Formats: sequence, C-alpha cells, structure tokens
Amino acid sequence: LTLWPSTSCRRGFNLRRDVYIRIASLLKTLLKSENWVLVLPPWGRLYHWQSPDIPQVRIPWSEFFDLPSLNRNIPVIEYEQFLAESGGPFIEQIYVLQGYAEGWKEGTWEEKIDERPCIDQLMYSKDKHEYYRGWFWGYEETRGLNVSCLSVQGSASVVAPVLLKNTSAQSVMLDRAENLLHDHYGGKDYWNTRRSMVFAKHLRVVGDKFRNKYLQSTDEADRTHYKEDWTQMKVKMGTALGGPYLGVHLRRKDFIWGHREDVPSLQGAVKKIRSLLEMHKLEKVFVATDAVEEEIELLKKLLPEMVRFEPSWEELELYKDGGLAVIDQWICAHARC
Ligand SMILES: *[C@@H]1O[C@H](CO)[C@@H](O)[C@H](O)[C@H]1NC(C)=O
Ligand SMILES: *[C@@H]1O[C@H](CO)[C@@H](O)[C@H](O)[C@H]1NC(C)=O
Repeated sequence: LTLWPSTSCRRGFNLRRDVYIRIASLLKTLLKSENWVLVLPPWGRLYHWQSPDIPQVRIPWSEFFDLPSLNRNIPVIEYEQFLAESGGPFIEQIYVLQGYAEGWKEGTWEEKIDERPCIDQLMYSKDKHEYYRGWFWGYEETRGLNVSCLSVQGSASVVAPVLLKNTSAQSVMLDRAENLLHDHYGGKDYWNTRRSMVFAKHLRVVGDKFRNKYLQSTDEADRTHYKEDWTQMKVKMGTALGGPYLGVHLRRKDFIWGHREDVPSLQGAVKKIRSLLEMHKLEKVFVATDAVEEEIELLKKLLPEMVRFEPSWEELELYKDGGLAVIDQWICAHARC
C-alpha cells in the first residue's frame, strides 16, 4: 500500500519538513497493523523558491535528504519509484483534508474525522475520461481516480482508521496534510523522525568545504562527531564546541510581506549581531538570508566582515533553492552560537 502526504505548494521548506514529521507519525501507527509505504511528494514550486529561469519542479527528495537515513525511521520511496512500481500514473484515492465548516464547538476537545462536502473550491477537475486532473508536482500525466474531502480535528493518527478500514484504495494521497496536528510533539518518535532527516551528503560536503575554507571550522577542531547512521549517534550534550563564528539566519521577506512591525530594521539587526560577536569573542559571522539584493548591499556596508554562501549560477542550477537552504542551515548549525 502507498500513502502520501502533500502540502499546499506555496509553503516553505520548514513547514514541509514539519508536515513530514507529522505524517511519519501516522505511518508508524499504520505500520502496527498493515504494511504502508510513504511516497515522498516531489519538491517544487514553493513560495520561498524564487530563482527565476530554473525550472524547479519534480525534484526528488534525494536532492536534499539522505534517503537511507529516512528509511531507518519509516519506509519511504520517491515518486518515480512509485510510478515505476504501481503500474501507471494513477492515485486511487485523494483525500483533501480540511477543518470543520462549523468551526470550533464550545466544550470538550475531541479528535474526529468525517467525510464532508468540500469547503474550498476543489483544486482538481474531471477530464473527459472522468479522471481527476490537478497539480501533481509537475507530473502532468498523473491522475486521480477519486477525490473526496475529509474534515479533521486532531493529530495525524486520526486518519489511520480511515486508511485501514474505510478505503480499499492501494494508493492514497493526503492533500493539505498540514491540517493534521502532531501526535506527540517532542516525544521519542518526533525526535527519531527529526534525526532521520539527514541532509543529502553532497550538500553536507559543500557546506563542510565552505566551513573549512572561509570559517576555519572543521569537525575535528569543533569537536562535532558525526556518524553516517543517525541511529548509532550518541549525542553527548555540551561536547561539541562549534566553529569560531556566529551563525545568523536573517529572515526578511516573510515578515515584510506580512507587515510585521516587530521586524528589526537592518541597522537594528547589525547592532544585535555586533553585541553577540563581542559577547562571545568571535570575529566572524555567517549570514543566511532571503533579503533582496539592495538590502544585501546595505548589509555589506554595515557589516563588512559578514560571510555568506554566494552560489555561482552553476551552483544554483545544481543545488537549486532548496539545496542552498540546506547548505545555509548546515553551516549555521555548526556555528559556536
Ligand atoms: C468509516 O467507516 C465507519 C464505519 O462504516 C463510518 O461510521 C465512518 O463514518 C467512516 N468514516 C469516514 C471518514 O468515511
Ligand atoms: C470516492 O470516495 C468516496 C470516499 O471514500 C466514496 O464514498 C465514493 O463512493 C467514491 N466514489 C467512487 C466513484 O468510487
């Protein structure tokens, strides 16, 4: 059997990662009674990903994550493998997850799930052969055989009984899976899934080379002990030192578009960075940011010692926006603070 989550396409990398964690938890519940496999929905057409001129659809997960590591937590396959093994580009059942039209009821909270009329306009339409067409990550030949809407209130595993009992479909897609909540946020399963989401090796290598060359940071010097197999890795708190630099993730666009007033001005951010550098006696600062070109120019003037991963055109084409986000996160994660 195949199960498959999907998030609305215009969301960021981190939300997608968070939804993966929730669905992994659902999968673990299903695996207690039946063999299910999670088909990883290809990446592409995400809100944060805006490099023009590079077609960014149908991107397999292996471009960003290490599949063997994911597979040590739950069984997963790429969409291409699903296509090859399922005998055609068909998804038997699409469930669009939504809330309840009547909203929250006063009184006790209960987990529930019911088949209900679709609240929002359906993003799928029937073609002349009665198949459902819609956005399937750039796979235009993919079609759905049946679409229906489920109102959900509760954690990911609330869907399990429906998948186990109510449908006989061999492949099920859960659209808008972000409507499900975490089963046990912060519990053992949650952390195991997070740890299994190891970034793809080729991106880690790029990040490590950059750390070494521009930030005097290596695993030996920083005392970061890394094992390829996350299940074998024992995290001893406080042993890793981190590289001799400050890691800063400066988010601009989301906030500006959301008209948030508590977004620090660039001047404010630079002041904060300087005081942190002083406090930790560091000289270098690595900055990951989605700021626009003019803001970056201003930032360079205000903070000339700033180090950024500035991809060449070839690197952009090779790693894509998602890969660059991973490289940035990898370098930031190795900072002293
Ligand atoms: C699933 O099946 C049960 C038993 O037939 C039914 O009561 C329930 O409403 C169904 N749930 C959904 C979401 O279709
Ligand atoms: C489509 O799926 C819904 C929900 O499982 C089901 O009630 C309905 O009978 C299905 N329609 C067809 C044509 O199979």
